Amino acid sequence: MTVYLVGAGPGDPDLLTLRAARVLARADVVIHDRLASEEVLALAPRHARRINVGKRAGDSLQQHAINELLVTFGASHECVVRLKGGDPFVFGRGGEEAEALAAHGVAFEIVPGVSSAIAGPMAAGIPVTHRGVSAAFTVVTGHRRDGDDDATDWAALARCNHTLVILMGVERRGEIADALMAGGLQSSTPVAAIRWASTDRQEVVRGQLGELAELPVRSPATIVVGAVAALDLRWLAAEALSTVG
Ligand SMILES: C[S@@+](CC[C@H](N)C(=O)[O-])C[C@H]1O[C@@H](n2cnc3c(N)ncnc32)[C@H](O)[C@@H]1O
Repeated sequence: MTVYLVGAGPGDPDLLTLRAARVLARADVVIHDRLASEEVLALAPRHARRINVGKRAGDSLQQHAINELLVTFGASHECVVRLKGGDPFVFGRGGEEAEALAAHGVAFEIVPGVSSAIAGPMAAGIPVTHRGVSAAFTVVTGHRRDGDDDATDWAALARCNHTLVILMGVERRGEIADALMAGGLQSSTPVAAIRWASTDRQEVVRGQLGELAELPVRSPATIVVGAVAALDLRWLAAEALSTVG
């Protein structure tokens, strides 16, 4: 009996790892969150029980209930898949679930996934690093629990002057842009927001940091701040194809 904490990637089933597909194919139970795509869920056997535990980020009570569910099913079923968007350990609370399973002596395995932090920008033709443009990238959450201080040192990130990839930052994007500009980033710094990356619902919005608050961005989106956000290498791929053709 094993619980598999599986990264489902950003949404396109083709971006699932082979390991994830194999584990899903023999699942007795699939416990998934709200961003899990139907096509990925369809890889589980028909008879597998599917449980949607969709929750808003930061809801610790619900997380506690999910941990209990994993422990209960993990102790009674042969193959339990906890399917999580992107990678289980990138703002996925996979670590907490692993700790809960370990504390109850339930066997588990982690199956990494393609994170939206990289695949999101890529789906819009944006490389998170690019020689001569950006030599590093930082992945950061824009989410803050109600009443908590902002734990992120935006001024320090602004000084790094490399690519910032912000997950869960849509609601606070204006505040974040202000903090980055107060830290020294130019208002003309390119930004891009990729919603439902890699799916047929994908939307890409581009602009400048100074106008991020007004850009029409909705969740779930990955926000990219930095010079690479002005790039779109999808056109290069299209051009290369037409040259060959
Ligand atoms: C709780 S975090 C989980 C991140 C996930 N573990 C990963 O590695 O991609 C959820 C956030 O990831 C981003 N996200 C997840 N899937 C996405 C997608 N298909 N397109 C764009 N952003 C996505 C959004 O910022 C969303 O608010």
